[in-house]
Amino acid sequence: MRKIGVLTSGGDAPGMNAAIRSVVRMALSSGMEVCGIRRGYTGLITGQFESMTARSVSDILHRGGTILQSSRCPEFCKQEGVLKGIERARKEGIEGIVVIGGDGSFRGACALSLAGMPTIGIPGTIDNDIGCTELTIGFDTALNTVKDAIDKIRDTAQSHERCSVIEVMGRDAGYIAAYVAIACGAEAAIIPENPYDFEQDIIKPIVDGKKRGKENNLIVVAEGVGGSVELAERIEKATGIETRATILGHIQRGGSPTVNDRMLASRMGIHAVKLLSEGIGNRTVAIKNNVIVDYDILEGLDMKKTMPQDIMNMAKILSL
Ligand code: ADP
Ligand code: F6P
Repeated sequence: MRKIGVLTSGGDAPGMNAAIRSVVRMALSSGMEVCGIRRGYTGLITGQFESMTARSVSDILHRGGTILQSSRCPEFCKQEGVLKGIERARKEGIEGIVVIGGDGSFRGACALSLAGMPTIGIPGTIDNDIGCTELTIGFDTALNTVKDAIDKIRDTAQSHERCSVIEVMGRDAGYIAAYVAIACGAEAAIIPENPYDFEQDIIKPIVDGKKRGKENNLIVVAEGVGGSVELAERIEKATGIETRATILGHIQRGGSPTVNDRMLASRMGIHAVKLLSEGIGNRTVAIKNNVIVDYDILEGLDMKKTMPQDIMNMAKILSL
């Protein structure tokens, strides 16, 4: 291939810039030209292209967000939109595309490949909800951001002997909630993957903990379950303990990526370009046992990553 394109799509994630940088510099090192496609699939359809040099990606490794910007593009969910995008790309001389994004973006990447444009997906989403990869770019940074926020909430919850309900992101996934529940010592994690019982899983740990001398309580709720304000009211009514709800929101999507996310993004970017340079498309890059691997995109999306039961059990044991 002589020229490839790179775009970021869907919810942005810290480390996307590190992935763009890796794709650009690996492609240039391999003798290919690189075209940055702005605003995800919207930019592909409307021809928002810019030539990338090694200097276009200077000074971005440490920045959150994505320099190429992102969008949600309903038009791309139709075959017509995909064909329009391919036509624009071909006019620009683009022979392969790297898509950095979440599962929705991967469906778009698959549609591009099946319609004749070799495309590689790099998993970038704070939700960590792509089946085939143990980690997605941005997850580690989001965990650290949430950890900082919950540690602060704990300070004030302890001073006032309160219960705090903290809602964290995760559209349909409880990875952030489950991991920070352990890292921050929460009494319970309520996640969409597991059904929960209000009395058994929330009230009992709070009441039992109080008997054992606990003076504050943290309950982490994933966005996919939602209803944290109502939950806080129910907890206060059932226990008599003053309870506050905090919805962390988009603060979780920003910030400088951690070393782990920068490394993951850099490794995945190199692997994606290697595949394209061999003329291979319709693959997603993933990490398994700390090795960068790749899978057919649709098969990769269909792989099920269940919430490890030991994570949920750990949260219970450690909140004694
Ligand atoms: P994420 O990639 O973070 O999961 P979305 O689910 O919003 O974010 O998807 C991002 C974009 O991917 C959508 O706005 C759309 O342009 C494209 N996309 C989503 N699903 C499909 C699909 N089935 N076919 C083609 N493109 C899709
Ligand atoms: O997919 C990442 C994510 O941050 C989800 O956790 C969340 O539900 C969604 O994006 C929010 O999207 P938006 O920024 O469009 O509100």
